[in-house]
Amino acid sequence: MNPQAEEIHGGVDYQEFRELGLHPKDVIDFSSNIMPFGPSPEVVRSLHELVIDRYPDRDGYELRSALAQYHGMSVSQIMLGNGCSQLIHLTAMCWIKPGMNVIVLGPTFSEYARASKIAGGVCTEVSVFNSMSDSPTDAFLEHIQSHSPDVVWLCNPNNPTGHYLDAGELGNLIEAMPQIKFIVDESYLDFVLNGASLFCRYFPNLIVLRSMTKYYAMAGLRLGYLSCTESTMKQLMERRVPWSVNGAALVAGTAALNSLTYYRDSMEKLRQANKSLTQALKRIGLQPKDSSVPFFLVPVDNGKRTREQLLKKRILVRDCRSFGLENMIRISTQTDTLNEQLLLALRT
Ligand SMILES: Cc1ncc(COP(=O)(O)O)c(C=O)c1O
Repeated sequence: MNPQAEEIHGGVDYQEFRELGLHPKDVIDFSSNIMPFGPSPEVVRSLHELVIDRYPDRDGYELRSALAQYHGMSVSQIMLGNGCSQLIHLTAMCWIKPGMNVIVLGPTFSEYARASKIAGGVCTEVSVFNSMSDSPTDAFLEHIQSHSPDVVWLCNPNNPTGHYLDAGELGNLIEAMPQIKFIVDESYLDFVLNGASLFCRYFPNLIVLRSMTKYYAMAGLRLGYLSCTESTMKQLMERRVPWSVNGAALVAGTAALNSLTYYRDSMEKLRQANKSLTQALKRIGLQPKDSSVPFFLVPVDNGKRTREQLLKKRILVRDCRSFGLENMIRISTQTDTLNEQLLLALRT
């Protein structure tokens, strides 16, 4: 594989939409996993007061302090990035050296493999999240024993399957394998009911990544952050692009953390909507897979064809071919009104 090749992601493919004569606002997007109730009013207000003719704080101190308070940790152990995606690539650049043996616990988000290959790693994606009934932890340990990797990528909860591994158990496993570096992506953890994080566990062999674009509905602003030990932080700082987080993302991120009640209420509504949608899908004969988050896989005859047919009805779902799941689509629950439109389109 050409490591530079463009990977496939959920969300609107603007080039495809141009070719089809579609405008993103005319299509209901069930393909990206973003809080459907939008950002809080505080976030929107913060952007009205934005100063754009001055450089932003390179260290994003105010937002990092708010995050440190939120997680109960020290500011010096948090780094911000231009979306979690940028931090995935920065982490790979820092920890993966040419020829290193890297495993990705899959099927999962494609940027881990891409970033590993760009850094020169020899990357293998191993199947761990195939069935909800299997224990991913057992499969994960077997693969670690048989591959003896230098670096392991893990998405928790996993995209696209929605598996969630208990952070306590995971932390103990990581601590017991100091010879292996682990990069754990918790971009969707805020969507898990009572989800526990590894964010405050500082092992020399662990970096934890988070995104603020999904739960806080700020995908257009690009904002992510990570935690690690101080010595890893030093290595990351040496490779970081200055001002990579823009002023809009900094003020909006801080405003989001000042309006947590809004997001908790949104999450409650989303859980209800998710329950109603999965039940309604079962009533029309589909079999959505269990998931710890408000996105889930649905088996269909042919994911590509289903996506094309739904797009003709102005509905976008994620076809899962790029995850190696040809006969699956991934649906992210939206508001009740929008979910009704999906159900109508699927029924007809
Ligand atoms: C697991 C996972 N991590 C990270 C990202 C990217 O997050 P961000 O928007 O913060 O770059 C995605 C986007 O789909 C994702 O699915």
